[in-house]
Amino acid sequence: MPKPVKKNTKRISELLKISEKLNHIKDIDSLLDNILLEARKFTRADAGSIFLADGDKLKFSYVQNDSIAKIDEGNNKYIYSIFDIPIDDKSIAGYVALTGDPLLIEDVYQLNGGVSYSFNPYFDEISCYRTKSMLTVPLVTSQQNIIGVIQIINAKDKKGEVTSFSNDQMMYVSFLANNASVAIERAKMTREIVLRMIKMTELRDPRETGNHVNRVGSYSIEIYEKWAKNKKIPLEEIKKVKDTFRIAAMLHDVGKVAISDMILKKPGKLTEEEFEIMKKHTIFGAQLFENPVSDWDALSAEIAISHHEKWDGSGYMGRVDNIYREEIAPQIGKKGEEIPIAGRIVALADVYDALISKRVYKEPWKEEEVLKYIGEQSGKHFDPDVVKAFFSIYDVIRAIREKYAEK
Ligand code: C2E
Ligand code: SIN
Ligand code: SIN
Ligand code: SIN
Ligand code: FE
Ligand code: FE
Repeated sequence: MPKPVKKNTKRISELLKISEKLNHIKDIDSLLDNILLEARKFTRADAGSIFLADGDKLKFSYVQNDSIAKIDEGNNKYIYSIFDIPIDDKSIAGYVALTGDPLLIEDVYQLNGGVSYSFNPYFDEISCYRTKSMLTVPLVTSQQNIIGVIQIINAKDKKGEVTSFSNDQMMYVSFLANNASVAIERAKMTREIVLRMIKMTELRDPRETGNHVNRVGSYSIEIYEKWAKNKKIPLEEIKKVKDTFRIAAMLHDVGKVAISDMILKKPGKLTEEEFEIMKKHTIFGAQLFENPVSDWDALSAEIAISHHEKWDGSGYMGRVDNIYREEIAPQIGKKGEEIPIAGRIVALADVYDALISKRVYKEPWKEEEVLKYIGEQSGKHFDPDVVKAFFSIYDVIRAIREKYAEK
């Protein structure tokens, strides 16, 4: 049968090309997004999720749903993120993670008798969705560790009618999952290294927790996405920027490692002199990314140096010509669009989080006071278009705050 073989060769070379692409994505969320998109494209599936193993549980790590996304533009992807599924034989995803065997199900509401697992209709009920056919495959690394599962839902035929997944599709998605697993492991490692860099800041200032940087990173990419869509920036470009933006935003204050404890941990208000020194955390941060070797380095440097600029020109560090000079005199702040967009966005994300949280030097503000303040600072401290994007996704912002709440 020479014909199918030829077809397979072509498909496999397509898959290898996709895997190659996945290997170049270093941010874990963009990676999961891409893996799911590719798996769904292959099967014309309407929806899907990725669950990653964390101890003896599976965590909902990524969700896509074309039908729901059409009705509900306002991103409900965070509602899933708080649910865990035990790795056992009671649920479909749990069963696949436990056994490492893929499952191909024609209709989740009519499972064969004698199986240990059952379908949990909860998400269908809250989202008025009807799950029918389902393909669940394990994510297995080269060391044969099961690191999660990928689950795709409601395959469609050429006319757009829901149909079953085929054995062929199961084979291809399994192949894709194996390659994706390697990329996921690599992305996790990159993230670990960056988190260690961030841990360094925490060791210096234990009161600023990893949650603060996680929140600023997540707020920033969500604001960026909304802002960029408003500006009609192509989706491909948005995805590419989001990949590096989250991690670069998380590092906005990394330069605080170079600020003395006396200033950094001062319980009260800083003197003018102390504040002049504190301002240099922007420069110190940028200096860490000298000789950028990647887009990510360059963006991190840009954010570190520009996240305290203000739209009206009254911020810092301004137009610094040489960040490696010993003495940096106070500069006139950059103004308006002269400030890189990443800096304008992190400025808002950072101040929002600083105001709504407790700091060594201040108590938290009430939410309505924070929102009122941000509204008042539109056109002063903040770019009005960035403020607009922030308010229009405020439900997402709040969900992120809950996800990374202080414990
Ligand atoms: P941070 O705590 O991450 O605060 C980030 C930014 O949030 C501040 O930048 C400021 O724009 C805004 N912000 C924070 N708290 C308040 C507030 O109570 N009122 C208003 N209107 N805005 C607020 P900024 O001012 O450039 O400060 C940069 C960093 O310097 C702060 O980062 C913090 O680490 C430190 N810092 C600033 N002021 C003080 C202070 O009085 N005492 C101490 N110990 N540290 C301070
Ligand atoms: C997405 O994760 O991209 C969309 C999620 C949804 O709308 O359910
Ligand atoms: C990252 O986003 O984690 C790194 C990206 C890069 O090195 O280009
Ligand atoms: C503070 O108010 O304690 C510092 C923030 C600022 O000066 O804007
Ligand atoms: Fe800062
Ligand atoms: Fe900060």
